Amino acid sequence: MNDQADQLVAAAGAMASGERIVAVTGAGISAESGVPTFRDAQTGLWATFNPQELATPDAFRRNPKLVWDWYALRAAQLGEVQPNPGHLALRDLEKLFPSVIITTQNVDGLHQRAGSSEVIALHGDITRYQCFADCQGRPTPIDLTALPTWDATAGPPRCPHCGAFVRPAVVWFGEMLPPGALEAAETACRHADTILVIGTAGEVYPAAALPFLNPRARCVEINLAETSISHRMHYRLRGPASAVLPQLVDAVRRLRHP
Ligand code: OAD
Repeated sequence: MNDQADQLVAAAGAMASGERIVAVTGAGISAESGVPTFRDAQTGLWATFNPQELATPDAFRRNPKLVWDWYALRAAQLGEVQPNPGHLALRDLEKLFPSVIITTQNVDGLHQRAGSSEVIALHGDITRYQCFADCQGRPTPIDLTALPTWDATAGPPRCPHCGAFVRPAVVWFGEMLPPGALEAAETACRHADTILVIGTAGEVYPAAALPFLNPRARCVEINLAETSISHRMHYRLRGPASAVLPQLVDAVRRLRHP
């Protein structure tokens, strides 16, 4: 057996002996659905776009139309993509374990669309909107379809309660995570037997710290490449998540239901 096959068998064995699985996912799991990652040197969004001009509250204050249009374009692109076999394999884990919780940094909704039942969206949801001023408590959700039509060439619509701009309900750099999301993700990780760390560079905190909150959990990384947190993993599976995850779930299925 080669090293990758050994790692897969060992990771499946560790998973199969526990009951509670948490997946910590990032942009890589959606890459094969056609969603660009952030930090890939050639194709990553941050290779072409400057996050300081698009993904911070200051950027939105400076140029609300630019930020609104960029997110509107991304939301439209994400509406066209489908979950891939990696998302579906995570959903299938629910047939094998009593507890499977996904904590994702992705805003694309693909875990939910794949049918996973417990998804904690740490960085928000690109299909939802809220008031930039959080005028009715934090955050104030806005239903775009209930707003009167507005001149989209002029930028974002206005909050019907206070008149501030409406913004996408995603987390920007320097912002807090959605209320309760981090606490829920931390609790899930503290109770996990196995933590799958899938398609994330491990560069953005607090998400990158989640796998290491529980020294008892076995950590399995699934990624195309080494990351800055690879050295802290018990098992490292190299390859595309859409191929590796179905193999891993199949191996676990054979162990749990021989
Ligand atoms: P990154 O773009 O930083 O990292 C993507 C990771 O996925 C890399 O480690 C790749 O090697 C890996 N990868 C790419 N394709 C893959 C595939 N097919 N299968 C498995 N792995 C693959 O994305 P994130 O770590 O998710 O935040 O980035 C975290 C946060 O930084 C994002 O949520 C976003 C970004 O700035 C905000 O916008 C607030």
